[in-house]
Parts: sequence; C-alpha cells; structure tokens
Amino acid sequence: MSQNPGTKKSTPSVAFGIDIGGSGIKGAPVDLARGEFSADRVRIATPDVSTPENVADIVAKVISSFDLPLDVPVGITFPAVVQHGVARSAANVDSSWIGTNIETVMGKALGRKVVAFNDADAAGFAEARYGAARGSTGVTLVTTLGTGIGTAMVVDGVLVPNLELGHIEIDGRDAESMASDGARDREDLSWEEWAQRLQRYYGVLEDLLWPDRIIVGGGVSKNHAKFLPLLHLRAPIVPAQLRNAAGIVGAAALAARAEQNR
Ligand code: BGC
Repeated sequence: MSQNPGTKKSTPSVAFGIDIGGSGIKGAPVDLARGEFSADRVRIATPDVSTPENVADIVAKVISSFDLPLDVPVGITFPAVVQHGVARSAANVDSSWIGTNIETVMGKALGRKVVAFNDADAAGFAEARYGAARGSTGVTLVTTLGTGIGTAMVVDGVLVPNLELGHIEIDGRDAESMASDGARDREDLSWEEWAQRLQRYYGVLEDLLWPDRIIVGGGVSKNHAKFLPLLHLRAPIVPAQLRNAAGIVGAAALAARAEQNR
C-alpha cells in the first residue's frame, strides 16, 4: 500500500512482463488498460542448467529484443515462493535459486529495476483483473494445473501472495503429486480418473477457503470441457481466459502497481 496516498503516482499505460518457466522464458510489453500484449511476445528456451546467472542472461536477451524505455515497469514471474524479491523455493528450476534475490540478480543483468512474483500469483492477478473474474468482487481462487499446482487468491482485487495450496496434504500425499496435470500425464490417467482426484482436491480447498469462484488455468485448461463438467463443487469453477498470456500480463500489471505504490 502507498504510505502517502496524497502523492500517489498515475498508473502507467504500459509495463513489461517476463514469465520464467521450466521450459521457456517469455516476455512482452503489456497494454495495461486492456490486459493484452502491445507487441508480439518473444520466447527463448530455458537453459538446461537453469542457474540464476544463466537465466538472467536469457532474460536480458528477451528484453533487449524490445526498445524499452527505462521508466517502463518490469515484472518477472518465477515458479517458486517469492518473498520480497527472494526465491524461497524452486519448482522446475535449479535449486541454487533458493535464497537468491531475483530482483537483485535481474536488476544487475538488465541494468534496470525489476519486481519479482510467484508465477501463479501473477496469473491469478491477471485473471482477476482482466480475465475470467474481471469485474467480480469477493474471493477468487485461481489454480494453475501444470507440472505442479500453482494457486493464487484475490480478494476484492487484492492479491494474497504465496498461497502454495498445491502442497496441502491430501490423503497422506502432497496434493500436486496426485492432482497436477503432471500426475495425469505421468500416471496416464483418463479424464474421468483425473477428475476424481480434482474433485477431492478442490473439495478440500473449498471446505477450507469458501471461495466465491474458482478459476482453472495452466496449459490443460484448453481441454476444460473434458474435466470441468465432471466436477461438483459449491462454487462455480470456470476455465481461465488469458491462457498462456496470464503470467506475462500479471507480472506487468503487478510491476505497474508496485511502481505506483512506491
Ligand atoms: C510451486 C509454486 C508454483 C507452482 C506452479 C509449485 O510446485 O511450489 O510456487 O507456483 O508449482 O509453478
């Protein structure tokens, strides 16, 4: 929150988002009024050895593809708990990230200020502001079903960061090890078999959090018609709308918000 609302800066119209994932590093400028890319996205494969230095080199390459003025806010998403810029875990990236200040490493590589966020938080914020929950109030729970399970909660437009509900223990197991899209793939589950696991997972989440709506993102959400109708929950459960743009759009929007509140 701004310490001094009287001097709050105006909202920038464009910010830049970078999405660091296990397989690709993607970036694009984002039109913040529309929540859409204002130029085509650039993607470079994540290096096999995904140490902070190697990843920072690629991020610098992605951003140098654009002629980006220094005052444009830059947000970066990372598949880990990100507390005040520091990675506290590392999912699908090198474990040397743990304890690394992402904002410092990237700031040095890019020669500009950057702000870092958990990947699901960025996607969730984007869905709440521009996507499936646009215009809604109350409690929105966003889950991204991929190799792991990312989760985000947005309450009346305010993000509750680093929820990590993909790791709640269900029936003695880490939830993401049994209900992620990765588990579906690994165990070659049918949509019906997987839906039973999702039913159990979302049922527990719903009993604990009582969200007003649940949004399901991640690459598999393009197949939502195969599994969402099989789920029976109290809250409406709907597919994400921004698909694979959500991370970039959310990172940009969160960076702009951070800049405005500074
Ligand atoms: C991590 C989260 C991340 C999610 C999606 C989980 O394994 O713990 O921090 O958001 O995967 O990448």
